[in-house]
Amino acid sequence: MPASRCLVRGSINIDEFFHLPHIVRPGETISSTDFARKPGGKGANQSYAVAKAGGQVDLDGCIGQDGTWVKEYLEAGGVDVHRLQVLKDEVTGRAIIQILHKGANFYAPSEPQQLDLSSYTHLLLQNEIPLPITLEHLTTAASHSITTVFNPSPMLSTSELRSFPWDSLSWLIVNEGELADLLSALGSSTSRPSSSEGENLRGKAEEDLRLLHENQHFSSSTSIICTLGAQGIIYFQPRSNLPVNMGHLPAAKLQKPVKDTTGAGDCFAGYFVAGLMAGLELEEVLRICLTACAICVESAGAMESYASRDEVLKRLN
Ligand code: ADP
Ligand code: NA
Repeated sequence: MPASRCLVRGSINIDEFFHLPHIVRPGETISSTDFARKPGGKGANQSYAVAKAGGQVDLDGCIGQDGTWVKEYLEAGGVDVHRLQVLKDEVTGRAIIQILHKGANFYAPSEPQQLDLSSYTHLLLQNEIPLPITLEHLTTAASHSITTVFNPSPMLSTSELRSFPWDSLSWLIVNEGELADLLSALGSSTSRPSSSEGENLRGKAEEDLRLLHENQHFSSSTSIICTLGAQGIIYFQPRSNLPVNMGHLPAAKLQKPVKDTTGAGDCFAGYFVAGLMAGLELEEVLRICLTACAICVESAGAMESYASRDEVLKRLN
């Protein structure tokens, strides 16, 4: 049995934050009072979280020459970046406030390349790169019995969801809004959770999880995790010959007020895959994830607020 190794095929961004005195009106030009540049992109965030959690992880994706510092940041955090391509003619993807420039993340080689996943036991995917690349990785991995984890963010279109190869997917990770969007795209009747849902958020998500499992377009063998922000998570694991395993875990107790929830979902996904790679029991994996997320939301930023495995275990005990 080879040691566990995860491939993340995903996005790498430079996140640029402009602090403005007010939201810019159409046609208006104002000066920003502050500017910050941080490494980001869901592929980068999640691979960083896998590495911080102690997992062996390769990140495969594309950046421009302006993004070599992001590559160095990831490498310093323990991510293996030898598969990262630095493109001469593209700029690194950028998230500027709310406007996303896809940049090098959407680069597709003109010649088809042989996809070799033989050195991996796990594959972690998001939806910030061209969908055909994600699908090719997913179906290839499934045919090699690699454990596959998908966080469909941003959400796919209705037709993409209906033709998605769900049978190739071991684990789906969504938040409550994504779950409702996915479910209605697949034709089940549901509504998007509203903020008035409050305490009932969990009950609604549990019902949605059951509906998704039973949906004819979805795979009955895929396990599902739905993250519920401050209300923690619910998980659903269909098991052959055993009753379905459904459970809820509350968010870990915070030691400080919430400061910044950016990248908390990515922290969860990365820590989750690292837990699977370590062969831990599901509930133990999830408790570690929730503690990592608590630490993440207590401080500013995404990757920079991801704790190491030791820090997480110290708080857990
Ligand atoms: P996403 O960013 O994908 O919507 P969530 O907001 O559900 O993800 O956050 C992922 C996890 O981070 C949650 O399951 C929870 O453990 C933790 N978390 C997020 N927001 C809070 C919060 N306000 N208080 C405590 N924990 C939180
Ligand atoms: Na944070």
